[in-house]
Amino acid sequence: MALWGGRFEGGVDAFTQEFGASLEVDKNMAQQDIRGSIAHATMLAEQGVISQEDAHAIVAGLTQIANEIEAGTFVWNVDDEDVHMAVERTLTERIGAAGGRLHTGRSRNDQVATDIRLLAKDLCAELIEGNHELRRVLADVAQNNLDVVMPGYTHLQHAQPVLFSHHMLAYFWMFSRDATRLQAAYDAADANPLGAAALAGTTYPLNRARTTELLGFSRTIPNSLDAVSDRDYLLDLEYACAVSMMHLSRLCEEIVLWSSSEFGYITLSDSYSTGSSIMPQKKNPDFAELTRGKTGRVYGDLMALLATCKSLPMAYNKDLQECKEGPIDAARTLGDCMAIMVGMLQTLTVNEDRMLAEAGTGFSAATDVADYLAKRGMPFREAHAVVGHLVLECEKRGCGLEDLTLAELREASELFQEDVVGTLDPAGIARARTTYGGTGNEAVRAQLAEALATL
Ligand code: ARG
Repeated sequence: MALWGGRFEGGVDAFTQEFGASLEVDKNMAQQDIRGSIAHATMLAEQGVISQEDAHAIVAGLTQIANEIEAGTFVWNVDDEDVHMAVERTLTERIGAAGGRLHTGRSRNDQVATDIRLLAKDLCAELIEGNHELRRVLADVAQNNLDVVMPGYTHLQHAQPVLFSHHMLAYFWMFSRDATRLQAAYDAADANPLGAAALAGTTYPLNRARTTELLGFSRTIPNSLDAVSDRDYLLDLEYACAVSMMHLSRLCEEIVLWSSSEFGYITLSDSYSTGSSIMPQKKNPDFAELTRGKTGRVYGDLMALLATCKSLPMAYNKDLQECKEGPIDAARTLGDCMAIMVGMLQTLTVNEDRMLAEAGTGFSAATDVADYLAKRGMPFREAHAVVGHLVLECEKRGCGLEDLTLAELREASELFQEDVVGTLDPAGIARARTTYGGTGNEAVRAQLAEALATL
C-alpha cells in the first residue's frame, strides 16, 4: 500500500503506478531529499514537536540510507512512487514509529520544492565551476597565440584583420556573462520553501528560519502557496544553460569551419576527432558538431518547462512533477559540453601561417587604404569611393591592392606616397587598432589582463 493509501479501497494497476511515478528522475535528488529531511527532523526536535530520541533515530537512519545510495547498495523498490516515499518507507521499516513521525508538519509538496531548490543550487555551483575552467582555457589560448593574425569577418566575408587572441577573448566575455546568468539562477533557487507544508502552512510550531539556516538557504520564502508552486528558478537555470549552449554552438560552428580544408586555420587533435566507416581519409569534428546539435535539446528543455508551468492554478499540481527532467538534462548537457570544449581547445593546433596568409587576402586592407587618404586630407566618403574603384580594378585583373604599383595608385590619387605599403600589411593593420577594446596588440594585452582579473 502506498504511504497515502489509507482512504483507498482499491490499489492502482501496475501501469498506472508506473505512469504516476517519478522515482527514476528523483534519484538525482536523493541526497538533497535526505538533507532536507535531516534538517526538518532536527528542527522538529528543537521545537519539541518530536522527541530528541526520535530525531536521533531518524538522523542516524537517514544517514545510513544516504551512504547506501552513495555507495550504490541501496535497494530501490519500484513500488515507491517517488524518492520521498522510498526514503520514508525504508526508514520506517528500519527504525519503526520514529520514522513515521518524520513527515509531521510537512507535505511532499514543500519537500519536493526543497529538494529541487537544493539540487538547482548544486547544479548551478557545478556549472559555474565548469564555466570558470572554460574561461581560463580560452584565456590560455589567447595568451599562447597573442600576436597571431587572422581575417576578421562580417557576413562571413573578409572584413579587416584581427588577432586570433582577440577572437578568443570575444568568447571569454560571452562566457563571463553566462557565469552571471548562472549565478542569478543560483540566487533565485536559494530560498527555503520547507514549512509551507501542502499549501497553507501548518499548525505545528515550526521554525522555518532554522531549516533555512540548517540547509544553507539565504532566505525563507514568505508565502506558502508560492513556496510549493514556484518553479521560476528552474526556468532561470534552463535559460542560463540555453544561452551558454548558444555561445558554445557559435564557437563550435567556427571550429567546424576552421578545421575544414577550405579554411585550415586549426587542426583538431585526434582525441577530439572521429573517422568515417567508409572514407579512409576522413577526420571529422564530431564533438564540435555534437555540442552544436545538443544546443537544440537544451532550448527544448526551456520551452518544455515554460509550457508545463503555463496556466497552472494555485498551488501544487501534479504537472509540476514534469519539471525535474528538463533542468537536470540542460545542466548535465551544458556541463558535458563545456568539458568537451575545454579539451578541444587545450589540444587543437593553431595554424598561424594559414591564418596570416588569409588575413592578407580579400581586400581586407581596403579600409586602412581609405583611412590613409582621409588622414592626408581627402574627405573619408571620397576616399571610400577611390579605394572602391581600385578594388574593382584589382578584381578585373585578378590581383590584390598590394600588387598595384605606386604609379597606378597615384593615378587614382596624388595623395599616395611610398609609405602606403605600410597600410597593406595585415599585421600592421591589426596593430594599429589601438582603441580600448580594439584588436591592436597592446589593446589585446590590456584586455587579456582585464579578463584574467575577473577569474
Ligand atoms: N513526486 C511528486 C513530484 O515530483 C512529489 C509531490 C507529490 N505531491 C502530491 N501532492 N502528489 O512533484
